Amino acid sequence: PKDQGWVLSYLYQYQGFWHPIRQLQGVLSCQRHFQARDTDIILITSPKCGTTWLKALAYAVINRKTNPPRGDNHPLLSFNPHKSVPFLELKVYVDHQVPDLTELPSPRLFSTHLPVESLPLSIKETGCKVVYLARDPKDAFISLWHFANKLRPQNSCKLQLEEAFDKFCKGVSLYGPFWDHVLSYWKCSLEKSNNVFFLKYEELKVQPKLCLKKLAEFWERPFSLEEENNGVVDEILSLCSFDNLSNLEVNKVGKLSSGEQNNAFFRKGEVGNWANYFTQEMTEKI
Ligand code: A3P
Repeated sequence: PKDQGWVLSYLYQYQGFWHPIRQLQGVLSCQRHFQARDTDIILITSPKCGTTWLKALAYAVINRKTNPPRGDNHPLLSFNPHKSVPFLELKVYVDHQVPDLTELPSPRLFSTHLPVESLPLSIKETGCKVVYLARDPKDAFISLWHFANKLRPQNSCKLQLEEAFDKFCKGVSLYGPFWDHVLSYWKCSLEKSNNVFFLKYEELKVQPKLCLKKLAEFWERPFSLEEENNGVVDEILSLCSFDNLSNLEVNKVGKLSSGEQNNAFFRKGEVGNWANYFTQEMTEKI
């Protein structure tokens, strides 16, 4: 209902989580039709936890033989990472389409914001490799607040920080409750450690090389000694770095087919930016 404010008027609660209402059809369709394979790689995040970065890294690691990271024609130089690794519920299953994904070569790379509770059964039942990227909720919230304001029509009023924070703490945010999303995947990663890799944005920032090597092993694409000595790991990190991706022409001006501007996915790319916005009370509350 309109009188419940901006956030509620665009979100719909389904299986305990708040989904963008316009994308609910995609969720239902994905749940009904997606058939995971053992070789699939699924990247899972709550929005604004580093999805774009993880997509770029995964794409660069998996395709490094055909697309060496130092090449001038690398696809990540001309396509936003969201094009290289599509969201199941937002991109693959839209407008009542049931695409044939069987011809795609393995490993297929997909992503999703769906909570564990709403994942297509086949993802849980096959041996596909899930990476869950989590982030400090304070940074994720500030990033989400900026993102929401960026996507609002130019003539509409700004979503106030206090209002957004209050809703976030009540669990009303994109794919929220945030903590339920994270904790379910955390538990899953303990139960199914061979198939679910739980990673934090902050770890990736501090030890990118170590994390990338672990990810590549998890995806069964470990870096050889020769590759390491030739600097392939560093090249991938540099290709996918915030500075590089955010300064590419495609990410400055382009748009996704769903309408979001590519530059909406790049802001600061830092740990701890929340401290410029949070009061003491907010910090304690969150
Ligand atoms: P900030 O708003 O805090 O800067 P998502 O990709 O899940 O939408 O998350 C977006 C957040 O990740 C934004 O955070 C964005 O700046 C940051 N980000 C995008 N690309 C990144 C990269 N290559 N390295 C580090 N952070 C990145």
